[in-house]
Amino acid sequence: MPVVGFISEKGGVGKTTACYHMAIALSRYHKKKVLVIDADYQRGGVTGRFFPNLIEAFRDGTLPDETLFTKYQQLYSASSVSPSITVRKYTPDNVDVIIADKRLASVTTDKLPSTNNLRENNLSILSHLKVISDIITDNNLVYDYILIDSHPEISDVLRSIIYVSDYCVSPVKLDLQSAIGVPTIVSEITSVNDDVQLMKSTIAPQLVFTPTAFAGAIGMMAREWGGTPKQSEREELRRLRSAGTVFKNYVTEGDGLRRAAQERLPVFNITGANADKQSMQLKKLTVELLAKCP
Ligand SMILES: Nc1ncnc2c1ncn2[C@@H]1O[C@H](COP(=O)(O)OP(=O)(O)OP(=O)(O)O)[C@@H](O)[C@H]1O
Ligand SMILES: [Mg+2]
Repeated sequence: MPVVGFISEKGGVGKTTACYHMAIALSRYHKKKVLVIDADYQRGGVTGRFFPNLIEAFRDGTLPDETLFTKYQQLYSASSVSPSITVRKYTPDNVDVIIADKRLASVTTDKLPSTNNLRENNLSILSHLKVISDIITDNNLVYDYILIDSHPEISDVLRSIIYVSDYCVSPVKLDLQSAIGVPTIVSEITSVNDDVQLMKSTIAPQLVFTPTAFAGAIGMMAREWGGTPKQSEREELRRLRSAGTVFKNYVTEGDGLRRAAQERLPVFNITGANADKQSMQLKKLTVELLAKCP
């Protein structure tokens, strides 16, 4: 059951667009059972794409769902952690969703009750890191793929996402500026992997953990000129390839995805030349995701 985190240091690079469309494509074209976890506390972008009618209540903070935040809060108040979580069904496709919660913005290990006992403090930080992982295990959430959308910020929520993910991918605009954040993401993944190894060798020998792998950057808004990426973007692709992994397929910048977002539909449901092209690109990316994140 691969868990894939969609993470980036920069905002507006296509995380939500990639996560949403790949979830639908995995279900629709590959018959996979998919869970999407929305850990983007600011916009709840992927929640809004699946459930447009929830956006207002999300903003007002009036949704009754048990969310990821509920679990962090239980750690802060040192109350017993009840594992239950609300899983909503998106019925047009076989996709389940744990929706966003604005209060995740306030999550930080600083709120954990602390003692002067190093071992206890570290175990407590480890529980914080494991929150999303424990939700999946304790609720026996079994899927073919779990995709996690995130907020563009290095945070303790991001560390929990990295911990639970088998693979992380990083959407980039493929312009000169936005791919610069990729090394930051890679080093955050390394930092989580290293910390867990340290915990394992000291206070948590029984912990079962496979290091999180960086599966690659994904160009989500490439500009083309005559069927190939523009010169500047070709250079960026080359730079990304030399720096590490980048998906061979990419999505070009265009009107299809913008119209799909306005109509609150996947681009697969939209007609028109550009929508067809972007649909095809996203389908190819999904096939590549299946190969890179088996
Ligand atoms: N290839 C594309 N062509 C045109 N518009 C696109 C393309 N990809 C994404 N967009 C649009 O760009 C905007 C930003 O994309 P998206 O919300 O997926 O980014 P994000 O990384 O999730 O942002 P944030 O960090 O704020 O959550 C959206 O309005 C989306 O519809
Ligand atoms: Mg987003």
